[in-house]
Amino acid sequence: MRFPLTLAKISFLIKKYQFSLNLPDGKRQMTEVLIIGGGVIGLSIARQLHKKGVRQITILERGRTGGEASGAAAGMLAAQAETNEADDFFYLCHDSNRLYPNFARELFDETGVDIELETSGTLYLAFTDSDEREIRHRFDWQRAAKLSVEHLSAENVRKLEPFVSPEVREALFFPNDWQVENRKLLAALQKYAALNQIEIIENAAVERLIIKNGKIVGAATANQTYAAETVVLATGAWTSLIKADGFSLPQVKPVRGQMICFQTAKRLFQRVIYSPRGYLVPRLDGRILIGATVEEVGFDKNTTASGTEFLRETALEIAPSLVNLSIADKWAGLRPFAADGLPVLGAFPEIENLFAATAHYRNGILLAPVTAEIMADKIVGKIESKYLKAFGPRRFQTAKAV
Ligand code: FAD
Ligand code: GLY
Repeated sequence: MRFPLTLAKISFLIKKYQFSLNLPDGKRQMTEVLIIGGGVIGLSIARQLHKKGVRQITILERGRTGGEASGAAAGMLAAQAETNEADDFFYLCHDSNRLYPNFARELFDETGVDIELETSGTLYLAFTDSDEREIRHRFDWQRAAKLSVEHLSAENVRKLEPFVSPEVREALFFPNDWQVENRKLLAALQKYAALNQIEIIENAAVERLIIKNGKIVGAATANQTYAAETVVLATGAWTSLIKADGFSLPQVKPVRGQMICFQTAKRLFQRVIYSPRGYLVPRLDGRILIGATVEEVGFDKNTTASGTEFLRETALEIAPSLVNLSIADKWAGLRPFAADGLPVLGAFPEIENLFAATAHYRNGILLAPVTAEIMADKIVGKIESKYLKAFGPRRFQTAKAV
């Protein structure tokens, strides 16, 4: 027999719903996967988990989603310009780069946001003897690894990019190093979350993990406990600040990068341009980003006069004709750096269902798609990518024990 919904029943259902969302003792309903950190890594993992069928995903973000390193980045997908040998790290970067065309296409279909993937390649310029030695070394190891890399004369560089300095001596061209507009990437990932009931809670700083009998059961902010079956640390430069009773998290420290930006009415450059001292990233809207400093100054995100001056000189060395432009914007972000400079990806063997995806240092935008795939495969399908072995969170301890 069916009863009509009475007022009392409706009121009971409303109370039950409210209770399940926000329990009176400061505990919240159980979520399947709790991701701590709403940067490009946390957001990309959330999307990939959702695509694999996980339906209860919560992201806790201590500030604003995308408001830290991921928003400060230059968006270069620099697998060849920013690696030094054909090792596991290079192939992780390379594999992620290869995922980008599909990642960009899918995100556009899913959200309508164009992340402005530009595949016009990257130049790496030499101005001095030591620069020439550097690019020849880079050319040699990349050719030996059968990568696409071309050596260009100064004349050919200036044919490709007429605003490059006449002082340039020679250059490398990496056709497969690209760029995206990382702030649009963040917007696309946030929209994916909003469209697919992935819960994002901002201004929620996790202070400690809750571990019971060798298993993660949740995480706590100052005034709220979040119960979860699985927890992923995507906490970037802040990873080591989280407390976990009797259990040590990987040491990750902040490395500041300052950037400046010029605005031009018309686009002057067609591709990313590096020198050994910095880089220039031309955006579609006429902005020219110049980066970046590499500074160990703790959690200080201020820009400095000396940093700005260094970046301006870097820009003028690449393109002296920028001299009359004033700086339209400047900012800084904190790159997450582990002791060996490599990402920390995977499960903690001693704590069931606790995972880390952090320490992407200078390449987290590039590495977002591959990180999301590896982590979601591990969490949902128990699939062990070869990269989890190379970049696991306990590799530092193993190294000590040997
Ligand atoms: P973040 O974006 O820092 O996100 C981590 C998030 O976790 C933050 O939002 C933080 O608030 C949150 N969080 C931390 N602790 C807690 C907690 N306890 N509770 C709740 N939330 C928490 N990479 C590239 O691939 N290409 C580039 O061109 C490039 N350029 C860069 C230029 C600069 C100037 C900088 C600074 C970085 C650059 N990077 C680049 C590196 C890239 O930005 C990072 O590797 C990447 O953003 C790391 O992503 P993330 O999500 O781990 O970190
Ligand atoms: N990958 C560019 C930077 O970290 O500055």
